Amino acid sequence: LGYTEPYRPQYHFSPKENWMNDPSGLLYHSGTYHLFFQYNPGGSAWGNMSWGHATSRDLIHWDERPVALLARGYPDTVTEMYFTGSAVADVNNTSGFGVDGKVPLVAMYTSMYPVAQDLPSGKHVRAEQQSQSIAYSLDEGETWTTYDAENPVIHNPPSPYEDEFINFRDPFVFWHDDTQKWISVTVVAAIHKILIFSSDNLKEWSFISEFGPYNAVGGVWECANLFQMPVEGDPSTKKWVLVLGLNPGGPPGTVGSGTQYFIGDFDGTTFKADSDNVYPDNKSANWMDFGPDFYAAASYNGLPDGEVIQIAWMNNWQYGALIPTSPWRSAMSVPRHLSLKTVNEKVTLLQQPQQSWRTVADHKAAKHSWKSVSEGTTSLDSPGKAFKIDLSFADHDSDDSLASTFAIAVRASSDFKQETLMGYNFTSKEMFVDRQHSGDVSFDKTFASLYHAPLSASADKRINLQVFVDWSSVEVLGGQGEVSLTAQIFPEESATEAQLVSTDGATHDVRLQITGMSSSH
Ligand code: FRU
Repeated sequence: LGYTEPYRPQYHFSPKENWMNDPSGLLYHSGTYHLFFQYNPGGSAWGNMSWGHATSRDLIHWDERPVALLARGYPDTVTEMYFTGSAVADVNNTSGFGVDGKVPLVAMYTSMYPVAQDLPSGKHVRAEQQSQSIAYSLDEGETWTTYDAENPVIHNPPSPYEDEFINFRDPFVFWHDDTQKWISVTVVAAIHKILIFSSDNLKEWSFISEFGPYNAVGGVWECANLFQMPVEGDPSTKKWVLVLGLNPGGPPGTVGSGTQYFIGDFDGTTFKADSDNVYPDNKSANWMDFGPDFYAAASYNGLPDGEVIQIAWMNNWQYGALIPTSPWRSAMSVPRHLSLKTVNEKVTLLQQPQQSWRTVADHKAAKHSWKSVSEGTTSLDSPGKAFKIDLSFADHDSDDSLASTFAIAVRASSDFKQETLMGYNFTSKEMFVDRQHSGDVSFDKTFASLYHAPLSASADKRINLQVFVDWSSVEVLGGQGEVSLTAQIFPEESATEAQLVSTDGATHDVRLQITGMSSSH
C-alpha cells in the first residue's frame, strides 16, 4: 500500500502525493472525522489551491478521499482558488441547502481570485482579491456544490478596512448556542485584526466586532479559530480561546511561522482577552507550540460541548516547499485534545494527545528506571523509527553537582554523529529539541537549530516529557501539556539508535518508557 518512502509519516496524516498546507474544515459528523486541507492537486509545491479530503473513524487511521473543492479552471487557467476555511453540519437546515431531510454540510472558505472577473452572482472581484464563500455537500462531504448564486457571501472587508481586500481570509465558522447564531471569525492579515461576523443562515453575514492587534504581531495574522471550554475543576467557569497563526513571527528562537492564543470571553458579539493574557508593548505572547513546525492549528466542529481537538500543519512557511520528501510534502500534527486548568493561579491551556494513538501502539512498552543516571551517555536498546517516549526525572537546582542538561537522543546513527535530542535544561528551566545534527538539514540555513520552551517542575518536583517520534518528526509535550515543541527531522533510514545524555553531572530518579508505534496505513 506504499507509505514506506523515506521520511513518510507512519501515524501522522500526509497526502499520498502532492503539496498540503493548512487543515481546513475539521468536522466530526455521523461518526466520521473529516479532515479537509489546503492541497495542490498538480504538484508538491504550493499552487492551484484546492481542498483535499480525508476521513477517519478514530483520528489516526485516515482514508484519503477525492479532492473536495478543486480549484476552478484547474488545470488550464485557474480563476478561483479555495483557501483555508471551516465546515459545519447545518442540522437545523438554516441554510435551506438540505433536501429530503438530509443534513447539509456547509463549508465556508476564502475564494482567492487570481484575476479580476465578474462572477455568476453579478459581483465583481478584483485581481488577487480574497472574499468569503460557501459550498454545501449532501453526501457526507464527498462532493460539494459552491453557492454560485450569491458567492462570495462576504464580498469585501467592511469599512474602514476596504483596502485590505487582498488580505482578508480564513473564515472559521461555528454555531453559537446562546445567541442561536452562526459566527464566523476572519482575519485582516496584514493589520493584525480579527473581524467577527454573524448570520442566521450561513448566507447573509453582518460584521459585529473586531479584535487586535495584541501580543505577537510579526508578519501577518492568519487562520484564527475560536472555541469555548470549561476550566477543569471549576465546571461553572467556561472560557473562550482564540488561536491564530503568525507568518513570519513565531516563538522566540524560531524562524518563520508560529501559533499564539488568547484566553478570554466571547458574548456572542465581542471577544475580549483576559487582562492577564494581554502583554504590554507586544513584547510577549501565549505560544501554542514553541517549535518551528506547528502552524494553522484548527479545531474540530461537531464535537460534544466543551470538547476541543486540534490538528496543525506540521511544517513552516520558511522552508515548507524545500523539505526533502517526495512525492508528497507536509504532514499534520498528532491530533491534540485541549483543556483549561488553573496552574499557578492562571488559567492555562493544556494539550494532550488524542488517545487514539494507542490503537497503533505496541502492547508491551519497554520500561526502565534508574535511581541515578550518571554523567555522560547511557545506552538504550534501539527503538527504531516510530515510537512514543514517556520520560520523567527529578528536577534539581542548578548550583549543585548534578546535571546541567538531561536529554534523550533519538533517530541516531550508531556513532551518534546524527541524532535529535529532546530534554531539559535545569539552569534555564526550559525543555528543548535540538535538531542541529538531525540528518538532512541542508535545504534551509535556519533548519539546523535548537528550540526551547519554559517548563517548571511538577508539584512533586519532577520534569515530565511525552514525545511522539515518527519517521520525520518529533512532538514533545511538557508537564501536563502546558508547553509543546514540534519539529520536523529528516534522519537517515539507518538512524534508529537512542541513548540518554546527562551533561556535567548525574540526573536522579529517571523513569523511561518507550512504546513502539506501527503504521496506521
Ligand atoms: C496559511 C495560509 C492561509 C491561506 C492559506 C492558503 O498557511 O496562508 O492564510 O488561506 O494558507 O493556502
